[in-house]
Amino acid sequence: MNILLTGAAGYIGSHVARLLQQSGHEVFGADDLSTGFATRFDGKIEHVDLASADAVEALKAVFLANQIEAVVHLAARKQVGESVQKPEWYYLQNIGGLANLLTAMRETRVQKLLFSSSAAVYGMPEAQIITEDIHCQPINPYGETKLIGEWMVADAGKAWGLNHVSLRYFNVAGAGWEDLADTAVANLIPIAFAAIRAGEPVRVFGDDYPTDDGSCVRDYIHVLDLAEAHKSALEYLDQANREHSVFNVGTGTGASVFEVLAAIKEQTGVDFEVSIEPRRAGDPPKLCADVNRIQSTLNWQAENDLESIVASAWLAK
Ligand code: WQD
Repeated sequence: MNILLTGAAGYIGSHVARLLQQSGHEVFGADDLSTGFATRFDGKIEHVDLASADAVEALKAVFLANQIEAVVHLAARKQVGESVQKPEWYYLQNIGGLANLLTAMRETRVQKLLFSSSAAVYGMPEAQIITEDIHCQPINPYGETKLIGEWMVADAGKAWGLNHVSLRYFNVAGAGWEDLADTAVANLIPIAFAAIRAGEPVRVFGDDYPTDDGSCVRDYIHVLDLAEAHKSALEYLDQANREHSVFNVGTGTGASVFEVLAAIKEQTGVDFEVSIEPRRAGDPPKLCADVNRIQSTLNWQAENDLESIVASAWLAK
């Protein structure tokens, strides 16, 4: 299938693109190259800001020139803290960019879309193991843009028959290839690596949570497993009478911050210092995916454990 992947220069996008290419798909990229690197992607990249005034025409040209049959949409701003500081920009970029993409798809009859959503749509749920049907109440503009994005693709499905699936990523980490490191130092594992390499203590934001060891628990999923989930979801889009359009993508098991740091110590051999800091605003004690739906519907499950995530991330550049 001829696929346009937006965000192809990004950490996750480049993994999904490479896996789809190795599976025999023709993948074309689109990216504004603001945070990604074109060298991560083996193919043509349309240099475009999806939220810009000329994005619709630029995308239509790419669709027509390459007989695009499906779009995998990963390009978005995704820093929670930044979204709180600059909500208007997050709406322009994430919602405006998606609106332009959907317009271009509708006008060129590109009928299949895989949308990158996030566990951030859940906010701070009461439930600790999260199914897709619980009430979504995002607590930051980033999470809000992802929930609104899911509504937008569903509305396109109703209005003009778009076949769509939204994947709610939990905590993505690791590397499927050594040249595809997560270079955005914005999440626990890359932040810990940066501290270790700088000879500084790794900060733990709170050790007094109602969890087994007092630190927050998250569902860490290997980026290669996530890429496989995209491959399975694309195949699912070709099925008629699909029962679901939203899937959690996680492992179904959680790891605490202290457990992640223990895995880092074991995999790196570095006995680094830890500094216990005050809690970070907006951190729920535990967020783990219920993965029954994706397992039973897409026949997909994560294969890599926390040790593999940490080891692969440490080796990647
Ligand atoms: C994990 C845990 C921190 C850094 C993110 C965002 C978003 C989403 C993935 C896509 C928390 C703790 C962190 C540090 C720490 N991406 N921590 N010391 O907050 O679960 O959410 O998930 O949608 O990027 O929503 O990820 O990696 O920031 O934090 O103790 O130096 O590690 O408090 O408990 P988070 P995170």
